[in-house]
Amino acid sequence: MGLFSQICSLGLVALAAAAPLEDRAKKPQGFLKEIGNSTWVLGNQIWNVTQNRQYANQLWYKGKDRVGQAVGHYVSFNGAASDLSWTSASIADSGPDWVNVKFTAKEGDFHWVIYDDLPGAYQYFVNHALPTLGEFRTLWRLDNTSFPRGYTNVKDGVLPALEEYLAATNVQDETWQKADGTFLTKYDWSAFIREQTYYGVYGDEVGSWYINPGKDYYNGDHLKQELMVHRESRTGDAVQLNMIHGTHYQAVSRDSFAENKTWGPWLWYLNDGSKPDAASRWEKEEAAWPYTWFEDNAYQSRGKVQGRLLLSDGRPAAGAAVFLGDNGNTTVSTLDQGQGYYYTTYADADGEFSIKDIRTGTYGLYSWSNGDKLSNVVTNFTQTDIVIRDGQNTNLNDLIWKITDEKKRIFQIGAFDRTTDGFGLAGPTPYEHGRIAKCPGNLTYTIGTSKTSDWCFGQSALGTWRVKFPLATTTSNMTSDAKLFVSLAGFSQGVSANIFINGVQVGNVTSASLLNSQDTYRGATKAGEWRYLEFLVGNEILKSGENALDVVVTRTTLWRGWLWDSLAMDWA
Ligand SMILES: *[C@@H]1O[C@H](CO)[C@@H](O)[C@H](O)[C@H]1NC(C)=O
Ligand SMILES: *[C@@H]1O[C@H](CO)[C@@H](O)[C@H](O)[C@H]1NC(C)=O
Ligand SMILES: *[C@@H]1O[C@H](CO)[C@@H](O)[C@H](O)[C@H]1NC(C)=O
Ligand SMILES: *[C@@H]1O[C@H](CO)[C@@H](O)[C@H](O)[C@H]1NC(C)=O
Ligand SMILES: *[C@@H]1O[C@H](CO)[C@@H](O)[C@H](O)[C@H]1NC(C)=O
Ligand SMILES: *[C@@H]1O[C@H](CO)[C@@H](O)[C@H](O)[C@H]1NC(C)=O
Ligand SMILES: *[C@@H]1O[C@H](CO)[C@@H](O)[C@H](O)[C@H]1NC(C)=O
Ligand SMILES: *[C@@H]1O[C@H](CO)[C@@H](O)[C@H](O)[C@H]1NC(C)=O
Ligand SMILES: *[C@@H]1O[C@H](CO)[C@@H](O)[C@H](O)[C@H]1NC(C)=O
Repeated sequence: MGLFSQICSLGLVALAAAAPLEDRAKKPQGFLKEIGNSTWVLGNQIWNVTQNRQYANQLWYKGKDRVGQAVGHYVSFNGAASDLSWTSASIADSGPDWVNVKFTAKEGDFHWVIYDDLPGAYQYFVNHALPTLGEFRTLWRLDNTSFPRGYTNVKDGVLPALEEYLAATNVQDETWQKADGTFLTKYDWSAFIREQTYYGVYGDEVGSWYINPGKDYYNGDHLKQELMVHRESRTGDAVQLNMIHGTHYQAVSRDSFAENKTWGPWLWYLNDGSKPDAASRWEKEEAAWPYTWFEDNAYQSRGKVQGRLLLSDGRPAAGAAVFLGDNGNTTVSTLDQGQGYYYTTYADADGEFSIKDIRTGTYGLYSWSNGDKLSNVVTNFTQTDIVIRDGQNTNLNDLIWKITDEKKRIFQIGAFDRTTDGFGLAGPTPYEHGRIAKCPGNLTYTIGTSKTSDWCFGQSALGTWRVKFPLATTTSNMTSDAKLFVSLAGFSQGVSANIFINGVQVGNVTSASLLNSQDTYRGATKAGEWRYLEFLVGNEILKSGENALDVVVTRTTLWRGWLWDSLAMDWA
């Protein structure tokens, strides 16, 4: 039966006749107008944007153009050389109170979903032909008088003025030293992306925010950091970044993407500059995610996983970091994974975890110590072939995580948690350019009497960090070899050390064996990319009574070096 006859048979002819009127009443107010050769205006009654081939260089909101002399909105990969160029625009779809505007580039489609009453738009990108890349981002470069301040979950304040940059001396990549000796750097405005609620730039009249609920399209794990907002150091623009595939604070993060890999939708949100309002909008968006309005089968098809992680000694893996990621090559670190969709959580005190709204597919599950009750757990847990089915719960039940025998631990400095937490100068903020230069070149740490905070968070200066540790004459384990665990929370090439025990070299930390993750010199003080080194210590090197382990820095470069996670030794 056709629609018309169906309507007739239900006696709804009168209603059908009235439909055109209703349609007219429900026409969406969001619009797209082509106003010239590759120039369009899109928006609603609250705001509108003028989009050119690459840049959207006007944003009308609350009576003013909020881009002004700045660059505006664009989408780019691998730096500014690769800004996406829009070849066409259309209304891809619409409803009674919304339009979905699609801009097409050869790499893929960028969408703006504009509701009548929304100050801002939901945005998303669908891949068609992005090259293998590291950095992929959307961003706003906005008028700096409308948006003088920046906000992330770890920093809130006025973006340093362009004048301050002009008066200072450039000392390295995006870093300047002022006459008073202090530093100016955009990396001060970095943050852990998966911990964000809302972030953006704002002032007394207006605020422009990114609200990214779900976050499953981001690359990396719990400790993935990115630059979030900053002052553009050449032009003075107020910059609001949406690093949807980022490389900051990482060694390797090049990925290629499947047809239709979709980033977003996230919300780009405008308001009067109120942080409490942006915060409540975050609550609303997070509760609404995954968005039921987004008509995309792959996006809508989701399931759940749950399980309980138990250490092999029977203890629950309390508070462990849990990551659902790539199923394929599990030698790619969790931070460096980035081609698909990723989910992060932490186990509870009983080792139980659950993650809901996971896109269907086959995943690998990875878990590692996040400190606290697992502080001494050096091993991690990996299980592949975890299948997530639409609308279903995949219950993994008890998962046994093999750990080493704790009785074999000779000493340990710092928790295994992939961060510098607990060490000297590790806080209070996660970013500060040059703080690593405040750590000493020479330091002595005595097992049994020194405190964790006596060990500095990062090592860079020439000199020797000595650990004095006792071994008892009477123990039968004096016939065994030992293993040294060097766990680094980050590493920037340019500093090398040799490691000795009782004067005999057992290992090293060098650029020859470790890639550069550009963390310490960009002011990371909590974490960068985690590295793990293990060295065998022959029994003949050890002696009863006092032993000495020396980490001797033999070559250095200012502000480079490594962040300490933990240094520990076990009987083999
Ligand atoms: C439109 O702009 C492009 C690039 O600026 C130019 O190559 C093309 O000739 C223009 N077309 C028309 C009809 O003006
Ligand atoms: C965009 O907004 C400005 C300011 O409200 C208004 O003057 C202009 O007509 C709008 N453009 C369109 C195409 O509606
Ligand atoms: C804002 O940008 C202008 C250039 O458009 C620049 O001259 C000015 O110094 C910037 N203001 C701040 C506070 O950085
Ligand atoms: C990508 O999405 C389009 C539109 O939904 C669909 O027609 C196509 O089959 C998809 N391709 C793949 C490889 O998923
Ligand atoms: C797995 O990834 C590592 C690191 O990127 C790479 O060296 C190795 O060749 C990969 N192995 C396979 C089987 O793809
Ligand atoms: C687990 O630990 C090993 C070293 O023992 C390391 O090579 C591997 O990358 C770790 N896996 C994860 C997922 O962290
Ligand atoms: C040596 O082994 C004994 C038990 O065999 C253990 O109690 C002791 O802590 C060990 N000593 C060291 C320094 O590891
Ligand atoms: C560390 O000690 C050595 C030997 O005493 C000394 O030469 C060096 O200058 C010291 N390093 C620093 C940074 O103080
Ligand atoms: C440094 O350590 C690596 C293992 O991490 C080892 O392969 C290499 O031979 C060592 N080099 C020196 C000079 O000790």
